[in-house]
Formats: sequence, C-alpha cells, structure tokens
Amino acid sequence: MSPSAPTSATAESLLAFWADAGVDAMLLDEPVDRIAAGRIAPPKAPERKVTAAPAPIPARPAQPDVSGAVALAQELAAQAETLEALVAAIAAFDGCPLKFEGAASQAVVYRGDPTAPLMVIGEGPGADEDRQGQPFVGRAGQLLDKMLAAAGLTDRVLITNTVFWRPPGNRTPTPAEQAVCAPFVERAIALVKPHMLLLVGGASAKAILKKDEGILSMRGRWHEWRSADGAIELPALPTLHPAFLLRQPAAKKRAWADLLTLTERLDRPDRPTD
Ligand code: URA
Repeated sequence: MSPSAPTSATAESLLAFWADAGVDAMLLDEPVDRIAAGRIAPPKAPERKVTAAPAPIPARPAQPDVSGAVALAQELAAQAETLEALVAAIAAFDGCPLKFEGAASQAVVYRGDPTAPLMVIGEGPGADEDRQGQPFVGRAGQLLDKMLAAAGLTDRVLITNTVFWRPPGNRTPTPAEQAVCAPFVERAIALVKPHMLLLVGGASAKAILKKDEGILSMRGRWHEWRSADGAIELPALPTLHPAFLLRQPAAKKRAWADLLTLTERLDRPDRPTD
C-alpha cells in the first residue's frame, strides 16, 4: 500500500467529519417523488394487486400529481377545530413522502404561543428538529431566537415550517412536498389568527406567497398573503434564513432591518403597507 492510500481510519475520520457537518445521508442529486414513483400509494387510491416483481422506478415527472394527497390534507385540516387536533391530524397523515424519506421520528409542527400575533414560517425541519420534535431548535433556531429576543418578540410568536418532516440530508423541500403540507399550514393560520407572517428563507417565501422571486428581492417588503378560499388576508414579510446568516454574518444587518420593519407594523397594525 502506498503511503498516501486511504486507510479505514482515514475513511472513518472523513465520515465523522461529514456527520459533524450534518451530512448523514446518501442522496441522489434530485429528490425522488415516491408518490409518482408508486412507492407510496396516493391516499384513498384503490388497492392494486401485486402480481409481479416491482416495476423499475420511473423518472420523476416535472409536475408530480399530488392532487389526491392535497385533497386529503385539505379534508383533514378542515376537520381540525383546535391546534392540538391539527397536530394529531398531521402526525397521522401519510400523504407527504418526506414522512418516509428523511424523517427519523415524529412530525415537527410548531412551538410557541398558540395565540401569538406573529407566525414565523421556516422552510422545513433539520436533524435537530427531527430529533426533538420542535421547529428551529438547532443552530439556526438559536440564532432566530436571539433575533426575536432582541426585537422583543420572544413571547409573541408561534414558529412553524412549510413542511413537517425533515427533508433527507436537509435539502430544500420541493414545491410538491410544500403543496401537500400547505392545507395544514393554512389551517394553522386560521386557528392561531396571527396579525402577520414572517417568512424565513426563500423556500418559505416562495411557497407561502406563491411567487417565483428570489429572497433577496422579496425580503424586507410587505406582501399580501391570502388563504386559498380568500377568507383570510394577512401582511407577510419575507426575511433571510438564519442558516444563511450563520454562513454570511455580514447579511445580519439586513435581517435586523427586516425585524424592525416588522415590529413597527406589529405594534401599529393599522399602519399602511408603505
Ligand atoms: N430551518 C428551518 O427552516 N426550519 C427549522 O425548523 C429548522 C431549520
């Protein structure tokens, strides 16, 4: 063996390095849509007899059909009369493929005050959140908590995400995964009745506002969020994700400016948008 050939000790140490960095899963470049691939039966689909060996997994379609899962999520969300009932409905829901991919444990739904005037919506749970069952409890969450505390918002928030299960390897949730979870997010908004939304990160802002703009152009400006049935309208402010701020500390001043924009309006709800 040449002196530079890798040994099992170097391989183990490299794996430990990646695990410390949060890389604990082997992934394909693109997420696999298990519903489209037929690995998870769409909710309420009639049972099919398996007569032969499983078919090879087809290529992921550009627009996976999640309409059955979305319809079921809408039905279950509408039946939830309380936040506790909504949490139970989410935990029992099998229509989001993430539940069977990255998540090691329970659904991660919310933390904070169920009557909060501000709802913070992040992208999706990471490894720490998956372990502890609460959103934003890892390093990014600790920074978010510090920012909220500095803005005097600690006891005035409820924190949730666009999806309730950890995407494998902490990848960004896909629009299809977010669409399946959206009826539950929307029901949470209807039950909590916040005065406004803080959308943390590009994947949250795009999904919640249904806009295809970058976070750098959306952040710091008020947008109008409207529920699917048009019954609820709320001001929504996109801001930078704390995980991004951990990598780019110089951007913290922009996030701080966003929080000032938010608190100013939160304390004066009738204030015009601009
Ligand atoms: N990032 C998010 O967007 N949400 C979490 O809950 C944790 C990290």
